[in-house]
Amino acid sequence: MAEPEPAGTSHRQVSGADLAAFEELYRLQATQRAMRRLHPDPVPREHLERLVAAATRAPSGENAQPWAFVVVTDAETRASLGRLYRQLTRPALWIVARVARSESARRIQRSASHLGEHMGEAPAIVVVCMRQAYPRWLRATRVGQWGSIFPAAQNLLLAARALGLGSTLTTMHLMRHRRLKRILRIPRRYQVVAVIPVGFPKGRFGEGERRPVEEVLHWERW
Ligand SMILES: Cc1cc2nc3c(=O)[nH]c(=O)nc-3n(C[C@H](O)[C@H](O)[C@H](O)COP(=O)(O)O)c2cc1C
Repeated sequence: MAEPEPAGTSHRQVSGADLAAFEELYRLQATQRAMRRLHPDPVPREHLERLVAAATRAPSGENAQPWAFVVVTDAETRASLGRLYRQLTRPALWIVARVARSESARRIQRSASHLGEHMGEAPAIVVVCMRQAYPRWLRATRVGQWGSIFPAAQNLLLAARALGLGSTLTTMHLMRHRRLKRILRIPRRYQVVAVIPVGFPKGRFGEGERRPVEEVLHWERW
Protein backbone atom coordinates (compact mmCIF):
# COMPACT_ATOMS: atom_id res chain seq x y z
CA MET A 1 0.00 0.00 0.00
CA ALA A 2 1.27 3.47 -0.90
CA GLU A 3 2.52 5.57 1.99
CA PRO A 4 0.30 8.58 2.63
CA GLU A 5 2.07 11.82 1.68
CA PRO A 6 3.21 13.93 4.61
CA ALA A 7 1.10 17.02 5.24
CA GLY A 8 2.06 19.98 3.05
CA THR A 9 3.42 17.95 0.14
CA SER A 10 0.09 17.10 -1.47
CA HIS A 11 -0.19 18.04 -5.14
CA ARG A 12 -3.58 19.53 -4.30
CA GLN A 13 -2.18 22.06 -1.92
CA VAL A 14 0.09 25.07 -2.27
CA SER A 15 3.07 24.47 -0.01
CA GLY A 16 4.65 27.05 2.25
CA ALA A 17 7.70 27.07 -0.04
CA ASP A 18 5.50 27.74 -3.07
CA LEU A 19 3.76 30.58 -1.27
CA ALA A 20 7.10 32.11 -0.31
CA ALA A 21 8.24 31.78 -3.94
CA PHE A 22 5.05 33.52 -5.06
CA GLU A 23 5.54 36.35 -2.54
CA GLU A 24 9.07 36.93 -3.81
CA LEU A 25 7.98 36.76 -7.45
CA TYR A 26 5.13 39.18 -6.78
CA ARG A 27 7.50 41.61 -5.04
CA LEU A 28 9.74 41.59 -8.11
CA GLN A 29 6.80 41.92 -10.50
CA ALA A 30 5.35 44.82 -8.53
CA THR A 31 8.64 46.70 -8.54
CA GLN A 32 9.66 45.86 -12.10
CA ARG A 33 9.21 49.32 -13.52
CA ALA A 34 10.51 51.37 -16.40
CA MET A 35 13.96 52.37 -15.12
CA ARG A 36 15.23 54.93 -17.61
CA ARG A 37 18.11 56.49 -15.68
CA LEU A 38 21.03 54.10 -15.74
CA HIS A 39 24.65 54.15 -14.61
CA PRO A 40 27.07 53.85 -17.52
CA ASP A 41 29.14 51.16 -15.69
CA PRO A 42 29.28 47.94 -17.73
CA VAL A 43 27.00 45.02 -16.91
CA PRO A 44 28.96 41.73 -16.65
CA ARG A 45 28.44 39.55 -19.69
CA GLU A 46 27.20 36.59 -17.65
CA HIS A 47 24.30 38.72 -16.37
CA LEU A 48 23.37 39.72 -19.92
CA GLU A 49 23.46 36.03 -20.86
CA ARG A 50 21.19 35.27 -17.91
CA LEU A 51 18.66 37.81 -19.17
CA VAL A 52 18.55 36.20 -22.59
CA ALA A 53 18.36 32.72 -21.05
CA ALA A 54 15.34 33.84 -19.00
CA ALA A 55 13.74 35.36 -22.10
CA THR A 56 14.10 32.11 -24.02
CA ARG A 57 12.18 30.18 -21.34
CA ALA A 58 8.97 31.95 -22.38
CA PRO A 59 5.99 30.26 -24.02
CA SER A 60 5.19 30.85 -27.69
CA GLY A 61 2.45 29.71 -30.07
CA GLU A 62 3.16 26.14 -31.27
CA ASN A 63 6.47 26.57 -29.43
CA ALA A 64 7.66 28.48 -32.50
CA GLN A 65 10.20 30.44 -30.39
CA PRO A 66 10.39 33.16 -33.03
CA TRP A 67 12.91 35.24 -31.07
CA ALA A 68 16.49 36.37 -31.52
CA PHE A 69 18.39 38.91 -29.43
CA VAL A 70 21.14 41.32 -30.36
CA VAL A 71 22.96 42.49 -27.23
CA VAL A 72 24.89 45.67 -27.96
CA THR A 73 27.69 46.70 -25.60
CA ASP A 74 30.16 48.18 -28.11
CA ALA A 75 30.42 51.93 -27.46
CA GLU A 76 30.32 52.96 -31.12
CA THR A 77 27.26 50.87 -31.96
CA ARG A 78 25.49 52.11 -28.84
CA ALA A 79 26.26 55.66 -29.88
CA SER A 80 24.70 54.99 -33.33
CA LEU A 81 21.59 53.57 -31.68
CA GLY A 82 21.57 56.52 -29.28
CA ARG A 83 21.67 59.02 -32.16
CA LEU A 84 18.87 57.22 -33.98
CA TYR A 85 16.74 57.08 -30.84
CA ARG A 86 17.35 60.77 -30.06
CA GLN A 87 16.22 61.80 -33.56
CA LEU A 88 12.97 59.93 -33.01
CA THR A 89 12.14 60.82 -29.45
CA ARG A 90 12.67 64.57 -29.69
CA PRO A 91 9.75 65.28 -32.05
CA ALA A 92 7.56 62.44 -30.72
CA LEU A 93 7.90 63.51 -27.08
CA TRP A 94 7.50 67.19 -27.96
CA ILE A 95 4.02 66.27 -29.20
CA VAL A 96 3.35 64.05 -26.15
CA ALA A 97 4.38 66.91 -23.82
CA ARG A 98 1.76 69.15 -25.46
CA VAL A 99 -1.07 66.67 -24.95
CA ALA A 100 -0.06 65.12 -21.58
CA ARG A 101 -2.91 66.00 -19.24
CA SER A 102 -2.18 64.28 -15.94
CA GLU A 103 0.86 64.74 -13.72
CA SER A 104 1.57 61.02 -14.18
CA ALA A 105 1.60 61.41 -18.00
CA ARG A 106 3.94 64.39 -17.68
CA ARG A 107 6.24 62.36 -15.42
CA ILE A 108 6.44 59.55 -17.98
CA GLN A 109 7.10 62.13 -20.70
CA ARG A 110 9.99 63.68 -18.72
CA SER A 111 11.46 60.28 -17.94
CA ALA A 112 11.09 59.10 -21.56
CA SER A 113 12.73 62.35 -22.73
CA HIS A 114 15.70 61.62 -20.50
CA LEU A 115 16.03 58.16 -22.02
CA GLY A 116 15.61 59.72 -25.47
CA GLU A 117 18.72 61.82 -24.88
CA HIS A 118 20.75 59.10 -23.15
CA MET A 119 19.82 55.74 -24.74
CA GLY A 120 23.32 55.40 -26.22
CA GLU A 121 24.91 55.73 -22.76
CA ALA A 122 23.13 52.67 -21.37
CA PRO A 123 25.91 50.09 -20.91
CA ALA A 124 23.92 47.43 -22.77
CA ILE A 125 21.07 47.60 -25.23
CA VAL A 126 19.13 44.40 -25.89
CA VAL A 127 17.35 44.38 -29.23
CA VAL A 128 14.52 41.86 -29.32
CA CYS A 129 13.87 40.49 -32.81
CA MET A 130 11.01 38.36 -34.10
CA ARG A 131 10.81 35.98 -37.04
CA GLN A 132 7.47 36.06 -38.84
CA ALA A 133 6.07 32.62 -37.99
CA TYR A 134 2.61 33.06 -39.53
CA PRO A 135 1.35 34.73 -42.71
CA ARG A 136 1.03 38.48 -42.12
CA TRP A 137 -2.24 38.70 -44.03
CA LEU A 138 -4.05 36.18 -41.84
CA ARG A 139 -5.76 38.31 -39.20
CA ALA A 140 -6.45 35.41 -36.84
CA THR A 141 -2.75 34.66 -36.45
CA ARG A 142 -1.69 38.19 -35.49
CA VAL A 143 -2.33 37.72 -31.79
CA GLY A 144 -0.40 34.46 -31.90
CA GLN A 145 2.48 36.20 -33.65
CA TRP A 146 2.84 39.15 -31.26
CA GLY A 147 1.82 37.03 -28.28
CA SER A 148 4.78 34.79 -29.03
CA ILE A 149 7.37 37.50 -28.45
CA PHE A 150 6.22 39.75 -25.60
CA PRO A 151 6.24 37.02 -22.94
CA ALA A 152 9.95 36.61 -23.76
CA ALA A 153 10.50 40.36 -23.45
CA GLN A 154 8.68 40.41 -20.12
CA ASN A 155 10.76 37.47 -18.84
CA LEU A 156 13.86 39.48 -19.71
CA LEU A 157 12.63 42.59 -17.87
CA LEU A 158 11.74 40.56 -14.82
CA ALA A 159 15.07 38.73 -14.83
CA ALA A 160 16.80 42.11 -14.98
CA ARG A 161 14.80 43.24 -11.96
CA ALA A 162 15.78 40.08 -10.07
CA LEU A 163 19.46 40.86 -10.73
CA GLY A 164 19.01 44.46 -9.59
CA LEU A 165 19.35 45.78 -13.14
CA GLY A 166 17.16 48.53 -14.54
CA SER A 167 15.52 48.20 -17.96
CA THR A 168 12.68 49.65 -20.04
CA LEU A 169 10.82 48.17 -22.94
CA THR A 170 10.81 50.71 -25.80
CA THR A 171 9.21 50.66 -29.22
CA MET A 172 9.94 54.15 -30.51
CA HIS A 173 12.56 52.70 -32.89
CA LEU A 174 9.74 51.32 -35.05
CA MET A 175 9.60 54.70 -36.73
CA ARG A 176 13.12 54.08 -38.14
CA HIS A 177 12.93 50.32 -38.32
CA ARG A 178 14.89 49.87 -41.55
CA ARG A 179 17.77 52.05 -40.42
CA LEU A 180 17.96 50.18 -37.12
CA LYS A 181 18.07 46.84 -38.93
CA ARG A 182 20.84 48.12 -41.20
CA ILE A 183 22.98 49.28 -38.25
CA LEU A 184 22.72 45.86 -36.59
CA ARG A 185 22.69 43.78 -39.82
CA ILE A 186 19.47 42.05 -38.82
CA PRO A 187 18.34 39.58 -41.51
CA ARG A 188 15.33 40.37 -43.70
CA ARG A 189 13.05 37.75 -42.20
CA TYR A 190 13.35 39.27 -38.72
CA GLN A 191 11.76 42.42 -37.42
CA VAL A 192 12.70 44.36 -34.32
CA VAL A 193 9.93 44.48 -31.73
CA ALA A 194 11.63 46.07 -28.73
CA VAL A 195 14.79 47.90 -27.78
CA ILE A 196 15.66 47.46 -24.11
CA PRO A 197 18.40 49.52 -22.45
CA VAL A 198 19.87 47.66 -19.47
CA GLY A 199 22.13 48.90 -16.68
CA PHE A 200 22.44 49.42 -12.97
CA PRO A 201 19.74 51.95 -12.05
CA LYS A 202 20.44 55.40 -10.67
CA GLY A 203 17.17 55.44 -8.73
CA ARG A 204 15.50 52.84 -6.54
CA PHE A 205 12.93 50.27 -7.63
CA GLY A 206 9.57 51.50 -6.37
CA GLU A 207 6.10 50.16 -7.10
CA GLY A 208 4.54 51.33 -10.36
CA GLU A 209 1.11 52.97 -10.50
CA ARG A 210 -1.30 50.23 -11.54
CA ARG A 211 -5.07 49.89 -11.52
CA PRO A 212 -6.36 48.11 -8.41
CA VAL A 213 -7.15 44.43 -8.84
CA GLU A 214 -10.80 44.95 -7.75
CA GLU A 215 -11.29 47.27 -10.70
CA VAL A 216 -10.30 44.68 -13.29
CA LEU A 217 -11.14 41.32 -11.75
CA HIS A 218 -14.57 39.82 -12.46
CA TRP A 219 -15.68 36.52 -10.97
CA GLU A 220 -17.87 34.22 -13.06
CA ARG A 221 -19.45 37.08 -15.08
CA TRP A 222 -18.34 40.62 -16.00
C1 LIG B 1 4.56 48.01 -25.71
C2 LIG B 1 5.31 49.03 -24.88
C3 LIG B 1 5.99 50.06 -25.51
C4 LIG B 1 6.72 51.00 -24.78
N1 LIG B 1 7.45 51.96 -25.46
C5 LIG B 1 8.21 52.83 -24.75
C6 LIG B 1 9.05 53.77 -25.43
O1 LIG B 1 9.14 53.81 -26.67
N2 LIG B 1 9.81 54.61 -24.68
C7 LIG B 1 9.79 54.57 -23.31
O2 LIG B 1 10.52 55.36 -22.67
N3 LIG B 1 9.00 53.69 -22.64
C8 LIG B 1 8.21 52.83 -23.32
N4 LIG B 1 7.44 51.89 -22.66
C9 LIG B 1 7.43 51.85 -21.18
C10 LIG B 1 6.12 52.36 -20.61
O3 LIG B 1 6.04 53.76 -20.75
C11 LIG B 1 6.04 51.94 -19.14
O4 LIG B 1 6.06 50.53 -19.07
C12 LIG B 1 4.76 52.43 -18.44
O5 LIG B 1 4.68 53.83 -18.49
C13 LIG B 1 4.73 51.99 -16.97
O6 LIG B 1 5.82 52.58 -16.31
P1 LIG B 1 6.26 52.10 -14.83
O7 LIG B 1 6.60 50.66 -14.97
O8 LIG B 1 7.45 52.94 -14.46
O9 LIG B 1 5.10 52.34 -13.94
C14 LIG B 1 6.74 50.93 -23.37
C15 LIG B 1 6.06 49.87 -22.73
C16 LIG B 1 5.37 48.93 -23.46
C17 LIG B 1 4.69 47.78 -22.73
